[in-house]
Amino acid sequence: MKLAARMEKLPPYLFLELDRIVAEKQAQGYDMINLGIGDPDQPTPSYIVKALQEAAANPANHRYPDYWGSLPFRQAMSQWYQRRFAVTLDPRSEVVGLIGSKEGIAHLTWAMAGPGDVVLVPDPSYPVYMTQAILAGADVYPLPLLAERQFLPDLRNIPEDILRRAKMLWLNYPNNPTGAVAPREFYREAVALCREYDILLCSDLAYAEIGFDGYRAPSVLEIPEARDIAIEFYSLSKPFNMTGWRIAAAVGNSTAVKALGTLKSHLDSGAFTAVQDAAIVALTEDPTPVFTAQNRLYQERRDIVLEALRAMRLTVPTPLSTFYVWFSTPRGMTSSDASRFFVENAQVVVAPGASYGQAGEGWLRISLTTATDRLAEAMQRMKRAMEQLTSI
Ligand SMILES: Cc1ncc(COP(=O)(O)O)c(C=O)c1O
Repeated sequence: MKLAARMEKLPPYLFLELDRIVAEKQAQGYDMINLGIGDPDQPTPSYIVKALQEAAANPANHRYPDYWGSLPFRQAMSQWYQRRFAVTLDPRSEVVGLIGSKEGIAHLTWAMAGPGDVVLVPDPSYPVYMTQAILAGADVYPLPLLAERQFLPDLRNIPEDILRRAKMLWLNYPNNPTGAVAPREFYREAVALCREYDILLCSDLAYAEIGFDGYRAPSVLEIPEARDIAIEFYSLSKPFNMTGWRIAAAVGNSTAVKALGTLKSHLDSGAFTAVQDAAIVALTEDPTPVFTAQNRLYQERRDIVLEALRAMRLTVPTPLSTFYVWFSTPRGMTSSDASRFFVENAQVVVAPGASYGQAGEGWLRISLTTATDRLAEAMQRMKRAMEQLTSI
């Protein structure tokens, strides 16, 4: 069977090769510890599960959902933005519900960019920004995220002709995979640039509620002029351990929100209304106890990993947010060689940085979403493997 030509443009799936090796090792009886995938290991808070159970029993919720997200869900999201970021949003025109933010991130590109257009994509980054631009036939212009610039792109270095053709700029802070955060000054600079060149600033705020050492992430919409050119993706997946539930929203510039909602009305029929009802409970109840416990847990794990990697003499920036630790490969290995080294010699899976873009070469990513004792065990194994390496 011959597939569409565009399928050939897609790069190989990030974890495919690693999954194959892990399956092979497990079949040989090895106890593998997978620190590759970022997916919370803690359960969704019970009051949200209970809200879903009740909402699922309501026959009114068994019919097709509202295409744009139910009005109560959009109102709850707008009230959340008011309380959390002091940002006022009109729930009717500035909020659209999504079936997880990945869905909205992917579809927004189809509403905004096509052949001849440029999409500005951080390198390394969450792969969906790039793959959708490729599928939509737009040109991807990578913005390297380098350690010496605290993993913020150098916006002043983008050539004038690229800026003139650019339709979208993707930003994701707190950042996957580097764990970096962005100060408000950076957002101000990005908003000014996007207004000057009429580029849609797309902010992916997936890790908003994870913060260590007192850190709290801002929203790009806190910048007064951002509403002119910015859309932001806010997902319940990571804050409330709801990755399997598929619920999020895109908020901000009404033209972009309308374009995304219109496109989606031709593609899907919205998130299950019972899930939206439970999401309203998540967004309405005081989340402080959940976030406090969660951040304490991730920070404890982060500190175990930082200490171990530093004892291995690897370069490790201290992340203030996300559940990722980004660190240099040992002895100048490529990221895929280093990842394979830890699979073979420590039975630990870490994600190769180059899978997130060329500028990720020389780096690896550890996810903190594994039980603390297993994570500590993985660090011991990696230390032992590194000791063997240095004694060779
Ligand atoms: C940066 C980033 N954006 C978006 C997503 C997708 O989140 P959702 O579950 O809302 O689709 C992820 C998931 O890992 C992510 O890392």
